Amino acid sequence: MGMSDQKTKITIEARCLGVEYMVVDFSHQDIYGEIEERLKQLNGPIHVLVNNVGMMFNIPEYFIKYPKDFNLKLINTNIVSITMMCQIVMPIMMEQKRRIKTNDRGIIINIGSAAGLTEFPFFSTYSASKAYITYFSKILSYEYEQDGIIIQTVTPNQVDTKLAANVQVPNLSTTPQSFVSYALKTVANERFTNGHPKHKLINNLSKFIGDLLGNHLYMNFKFRIIQNEMNLIKNANRKTKLISIDDDKIFD
Ligand SMILES: NC(=O)c1ccc[n+]([C@@H]2O[C@H](COP(=O)([O-])OP(=O)(O)OC[C@H]3O[C@@H](n4cnc5c(N)ncnc54)[C@H](OP(=O)(O)O)[C@@H]3O)[C@@H](O)[C@H]2O)c1
Repeated sequence: MGMSDQKTKITIEARCLGVEYMVVDFSHQDIYGEIEERLKQLNGPIHVLVNNVGMMFNIPEYFIKYPKDFNLKLINTNIVSITMMCQIVMPIMMEQKRRIKTNDRGIIINIGSAAGLTEFPFFSTYSASKAYITYFSKILSYEYEQDGIIIQTVTPNQVDTKLAANVQVPNLSTTPQSFVSYALKTVANERFTNGHPKHKLINNLSKFIGDLLGNHLYMNFKFRIIQNEMNLIKNANRKTKLISIDDDKIFD
């Protein structure tokens, strides 16, 4: 769906619910002045910010084979967005707490990924962008704990969504509904969470194997598994001629 179709769809849904909305493309950097302005116009307290937006290349791929402008878009969408949204919203949360003298604390939920806890070959910029989120979010959580702002870092493993549809391992993933229902229960009491018991088990197991094998062997292990998966996907796609992402050709 194009941005204008999407705008129309969201406009209709939001009007029905009486919700204020704004459609933005986070792959650009010139959007934050307007976002800040609109938030100020609302003139109400902000209780919750969820930094969920994220993109990744839809198959494993060598770094230099990504389409030309893809990495810049990814950095804007995955890294610049969370940084700028926190920079805009956190002062508002601090100010409203001082002005209204309320115990009502602002909550910020930052969606990272298991791909940011350990390096994922063939997902270079995605994995690195999620490591940024983990560090950034954890640091802010410590800096602002005494000011009463709850900043939670969530690092899911695999969830059945369109983002990772090509690389899901069937029995390892969870439905979005199951993931969200568990993750929401953790908001007030876990500053860092994998969000779901199954994800916690997989992430801990992965860390255990990594510690056991040592970084070099573990990287080699992941490299071979993901490279194999990449070749399988490419061969399947060559047969069915499904060869595009955002209209950019990605295969040889
Ligand atoms: N699915 C997984 O296995 C998994 C695992 C770990 C972490 N995560 C993280 O979870 C978060 C949510 O992803 P998801 O799995 O729920 O996938 P998803 O359904 O594809 O959600 C991604 C969201 O980001 C939005 N988005 C992407 N690029 C955008 C842009 N340039 N401007 C505005 N919005 C944009 C998408 O909007 P549209 O719907 O309009 O495209 C969509 O709402 C992401 O940060 C992802 O990295 C997912």
